Amino acid sequence: MSQMITLGVSSSISVYKSCEIIRELQKKGFEVRVICTANATRLISPRLFSALSGNRVGVDFFQNEINGKIDHIDWARKTDVFAVAPATANIIGKFAAGIADDFLSTFFMAVDCPVIIAPAMNEVMYLKPQVRLNMDKLKSLGVRIIEPGRGYLACGDEGWGRLAEPVEIVKAIQKALKEKSVLKGKTVLVTAGPTREHLDPVRFLSNPSSGKMGYALAEAALWRGADVILVSGPTHLLPPRGVTYKSVCSASEMEHEVKTAFAKTDILIMSAAVSDFRFADVSQQKIKKEKLPSQIKVVPTKDILKGIGSRKGNKVLVGFAAETENIKKNALKKLKEKNLDMIVVNRVDEKNIGFGADKNRVLFLSRDGKEIETETLSKEEIGRIVVEKIGEFVDEKNKKSGR
Ligand code: CTP
Repeated sequence: MSQMITLGVSSSISVYKSCEIIRELQKKGFEVRVICTANATRLISPRLFSALSGNRVGVDFFQNEINGKIDHIDWARKTDVFAVAPATANIIGKFAAGIADDFLSTFFMAVDCPVIIAPAMNEVMYLKPQVRLNMDKLKSLGVRIIEPGRGYLACGDEGWGRLAEPVEIVKAIQKALKEKSVLKGKTVLVTAGPTREHLDPVRFLSNPSSGKMGYALAEAALWRGADVILVSGPTHLLPPRGVTYKSVCSASEMEHEVKTAFAKTDILIMSAAVSDFRFADVSQQKIKKEKLPSQIKVVPTKDILKGIGSRKGNKVLVGFAAETENIKKNALKKLKEKNLDMIVVNRVDEKNIGFGADKNRVLFLSRDGKEIETETLSKEEIGRIVVEKIGEFVDEKNKKSGR
């Protein structure tokens, strides 16, 4: 069965190029379905899109619903990549704001596949801060933007805002499809969040990890086609749809789940902030304050990653390092001692990044000497970069072993 590309079309003069995009996609063997905004149909007839694509066109939400099926959901499930070309300032704004008031914008909310947006508009509109902010928001949510080119615009101006060429848009769609399957057939085990080491039922030792980084990694791995197992300490987050979720509390519970899942794992990403200590004695009842001991003994927990590293076989191990000083030196030591393939280092002493924050900046070190430092980005973006690097590593590894 050929892969389905859904093409969103909004009302820009460059709408004529959508026909060429459909043709190019069909030449590459893709099936195409078109969804237009009502305004786009004032420039071009949906009948043309229907004739070209050989599929019903989505325009009027309620008209389509009358056909007995919930089209926007049904079509979304069958879509491999959703590309919007041309995308106007209005549709970009709606997508960024989560407004779903017509077929196209509702479809965007319903898809669970890579989304590509190719804007087209007048240069002044394109450079408006509102449009830039909306595009930045969409980018941080994982939408790919194909920046428009510079040239003659329909309004008679010269400038930025010209819809990217159809071949470029088709190439971006093919790239997104390829990326989507980079980890297909692989099982990725991700650990996330803090652990809690209880002293009694109401008191525990923990750390400020929110789990956001690990959940973002799990989601990024899902998007690359992997089967994902997420072992998580206590967080306030919803597990990404499609992961096998294991909830744990203490380091020893996390160790148990990781060891159990490791047999079927190809890639372990250990991003959890595992407590290094636990209380030597745990009371089953709440300790009354007058009975609180003057000293409380702690003992080390097991280093889960180190234990796994000593018997990793052919599997890929990725660790995290939370550091406040001698960042690179400490991380390289952990990379070696825990027998890792890669380590992702994040500073935990800076405000606004790392522990508990929405953003992060990481240094990425691999056992083959590669070193990449990211800018400060959303944890979702960092997650995608880390998973992309893991994908490249797996690819190189396969090439070396002749697979
Ligand atoms: N880790 C683990 N088990 C532990 C402690 C840490 O598996 N008991 C893992 C973490 O998930 C992370 C890596 O080891 O992937 C490094 O954790 P980090 O806290 O940075 O370092 P530690 O090894 O605990 O050393 P230190 O706290 O002294 O820096």
